[in-house]
Amino acid sequence: MRGGYSDRVTPEESPVRLRPEIAAAAAYAQGRIPPSDGFKLSSNENPFPPLAGVVRAIREADAYNRYPDATAAGLRERLAERFGVTAAGIQVGNGSVSVIAQLIQAAATVGDEVVYAWRSFEAYPGLVTVAGARSVQVPLTADGRHDLPAMAAAVTERTRVVIVCSPNNPTGPAVGRAEFDAFMAAVPRDVLVLLDEAYYEFITDPEAVDGSQVLAAHPNLVLLRTFSKAYGLAALRIGYAVGHPAVIRAAATAAIPLSVTAQAQAGALASIECEDELMERVARIALRRDEVRAALISQGWSIPDAQGNFVWLATGAATDAAADRFFDGGLAVRPFAGEGIRVSIGEEESVERLLKISEQIVGTLPTER
Ligand SMILES: Cc1ncc(COP(=O)(O)O)c(C=O)c1O
Repeated sequence: MRGGYSDRVTPEESPVRLRPEIAAAAAYAQGRIPPSDGFKLSSNENPFPPLAGVVRAIREADAYNRYPDATAAGLRERLAERFGVTAAGIQVGNGSVSVIAQLIQAAATVGDEVVYAWRSFEAYPGLVTVAGARSVQVPLTADGRHDLPAMAAAVTERTRVVIVCSPNNPTGPAVGRAEFDAFMAAVPRDVLVLLDEAYYEFITDPEAVDGSQVLAAHPNLVLLRTFSKAYGLAALRIGYAVGHPAVIRAAATAAIPLSVTAQAQAGALASIECEDELMERVARIALRRDEVRAALISQGWSIPDAQGNFVWLATGAATDAAADRFFDGGLAVRPFAGEGIRVSIGEEESVERLLKISEQIVGTLPTER
């Protein structure tokens, strides 16, 4: 595995004493890279290249010999305006995943529990383990949705954080506003709730919760958003949280200093300036998603509601074989062995190839999808 971490080195071989739970866990595994004439549909990236104005702003941030603004003040001010909060309520990190890590570390440690739905974003278990806390995974419903009553019921005296992922990666449905309100009413007010809205901009379901609309009512709620997906800046690594200033301050305390580059800050600010053009692209991706989902359903697949920039194929025991078929056809997708395959909505030209292969696969699956 070119560039990967060796899984052949066992913890027993370590020359130094390591934390056993870290030594036993696997490092984050990235989506596969397709052949050169193929399409990368394995990492929920944006298929559109960056806008010229954004590239220019990044190039102009050329004081490479200087550290960046550690507080990302300009961007935080700009985001604060948008959310109707003060800059003290915004934390910027090198990717929203970093801010999630900061918040978990700020709230949970050894002996504490973090509740989240499963299957969900594959980074959550590792972040909880690194904090020293314990994961409590609440199964999704059969149609890939969060079971919010079950998640609220899983909260105990030990729970410090609950993560809600809407839309859920990898299955696709968003959490509804009414169910979210009921959930927040059921969770103790001193338990931190993280609403991970990495794919917020792709949502078209009018019933879905919009974190920005409910934030003011819940001091224990923090929203996570990112420039990696809708804004197409995945390579720059920049995302943020919005929440109560005291919680945001704790996240900043848990952060690795100076990890958000000046180039990332400049790119994010420039993206906000040309948001209309970026959101037109998002609308095209969401439309493509709906068309792909409809075509898959007409092929016989049962696809959960898709509100992000990806669809979920429940391939079950045939997952690895199906992922290999996609790969052989030039499409790198994200398989979860024994469960299913997440396929990102990519370039327009990838769609025909995707649907051709999915049609071949659906006929070979043993049971109902
Ligand atoms: C649900 C979810 N949250 C957070 C992230 C992290 O995004 P980033 O760290 O690029 O902002 C991802 C990335 O795939 C994701 O799927």
